Amino acid sequence: MEKIGEIIAEHRHREGPLLPILHAVQEEFGCVDADSEALIANGLNLSRADVHGVVSFYHDFLDKPDLRPVVQICRAEACKARGVEQIMDAATAAAGERVKLTTVYCLGLCSAGPAARVGDRLHARLDGPALAQVIENA
Ligand code: FES
Repeated sequence: MEKIGEIIAEHRHREGPLLPILHAVQEEFGCVDADSEALIANGLNLSRADVHGVVSFYHDFLDKPDLRPVVQICRAEACKARGVEQIMDAATAAAGERVKLTTVYCLGLCSAGPAARVGDRLHARLDGPALAQVIENA
């Protein structure tokens, strides 16, 4: 929890320090749990309810780390034009609860979409079965 104190100290003098602190804590620990909320509230002289209200408002903040593999699927215009929305049902079914699907807006493979990324690996020209395979291998 010493690290949270360092994060607070690093950002406390900024205008609107709460969001940068929350992002930094989530990046460091993978979540913003109740103990972190209390420390942040104390460090910024806010109520815990103030901090929790912000944490719970933004879906990006997690109250516990999500350790599932992540598959990023591009749903920007070029990939939409190339059919990504038509293969999302297959993606969702393949992912189930085991894999976390996230939406990104462009992976730089616009002419070869639909595109997805797992870690550093890019996948292009995906159809339903190919995307399902990517997800199953994640
Ligand atoms: S729009 Fe999907 S990779 Fe660019």
